[in-house]
Amino acid sequence: MRRLAVLTSGGDAPGTNACIRAVVRTALAHDLEVTGVRRGYAGLMEGDVEPLDGRFVGGIAHKGGTVLNTARTDKFKTAEGQRQALDNLKKHHVDLLVVIGGDGSLKGALRLHQDGVPVAGVPASIDNDVPFTDMALGVDTAMNTALTAIDKIKDTATSHRRAFLVETMGRNSGYLALMVGMASAAEAIVIPEVPASCEEILELMKEAHGKGKAHFIIVIAEGADPDCHTIDQYLKGREKELGFAVRVSILGYIQRGGAPTAFDRLLGTRLGAAAVGELVQGNYGKMLGLIGSKVVATDLEKVVRGTREVDLALYELAEMLEIYPAS
Ligand code: ADP
Ligand code: F6P
Repeated sequence: MRRLAVLTSGGDAPGTNACIRAVVRTALAHDLEVTGVRRGYAGLMEGDVEPLDGRFVGGIAHKGGTVLNTARTDKFKTAEGQRQALDNLKKHHVDLLVVIGGDGSLKGALRLHQDGVPVAGVPASIDNDVPFTDMALGVDTAMNTALTAIDKIKDTATSHRRAFLVETMGRNSGYLALMVGMASAAEAIVIPEVPASCEEILELMKEAHGKGKAHFIIVIAEGADPDCHTIDQYLKGREKELGFAVRVSILGYIQRGGAPTAFDRLLGTRLGAAAVGELVQGNYGKMLGLIGSKVVATDLEKVVRGTREVDLALYELAEMLEIYPAS
């Protein structure tokens, strides 16, 4: 009987458990034995591997995080780390491997593929920075979590007539900040992909205050670097001039946790099942992504070489809508 292993690696992303469930149950339906690797590539190098049955994945699809745990490890990037991983795949008789993770994890999956491991990748990262998929697992849930938080911040901002800098995650990508900024109708959005002038933002805020605006929400991506570098200090130092008192709220890790949305559960289910389907058909070294409404397999090599840009037309749209009337 052939054996399939599944691991989750890098930053956890809601929807991953639904994906693990789909991988395990699809593999069992194809008469494969299934093995789980704990703690991503760290567990693979250490041989932290255990058999999984259909029951293991019962009652997990609605939960955030990953039941297989995850890790980041630089050792796996070394020849020694990869040799250990390959030794353990051999020792545990793994014939097929599914890797669920972000762009770094998919680079790791490609390395294993190049070493002859039949591998399939599933993109999972709240950053949405993996190309050849419209959405990675976890993005939709993270957007909704951030949106709920900003709605609440807006209540208190309006009550005190304050300005808030709300920082989202996203590493080097502004996707999360842009989408959440648009959805929350923020007054300004600052992302790494678009140069931002602190003076311009200051002027916008002064104008808004002058027009009687009750709050001013700036959604800023963690990777953004406006020209004054520390925009929080810049604005706080100018509160008198601004009219608004300024507060900062870093949304942080709450964006990674929580029950996955219906979208992420469905995406995880479809991509997980498709990953096993590719391996069963002998199509190795692919990433399964969602393009339009279809699940599409793309060579990991192409994925890893590519980049996913934010849609600057959406940024321009958000900017145009930020220019509000005096109400
Ligand atoms: P994510 O997968 O969420 O983007 P990381 O970038 O931290 O998170 O990558 C997760 C893990 O994948 C890393 O800790 C490392 O073990 C592995 N990895 C990342 N980049 C590479 C690479 N270039 N070659 C091999 N393995 C890599
Ligand atoms: O890649 C997901 C992510 O949450 C990024 O948005 C963030 O920059 C990073 O992971 C945080 O990494 P760590 O969990 O290692 O602190």
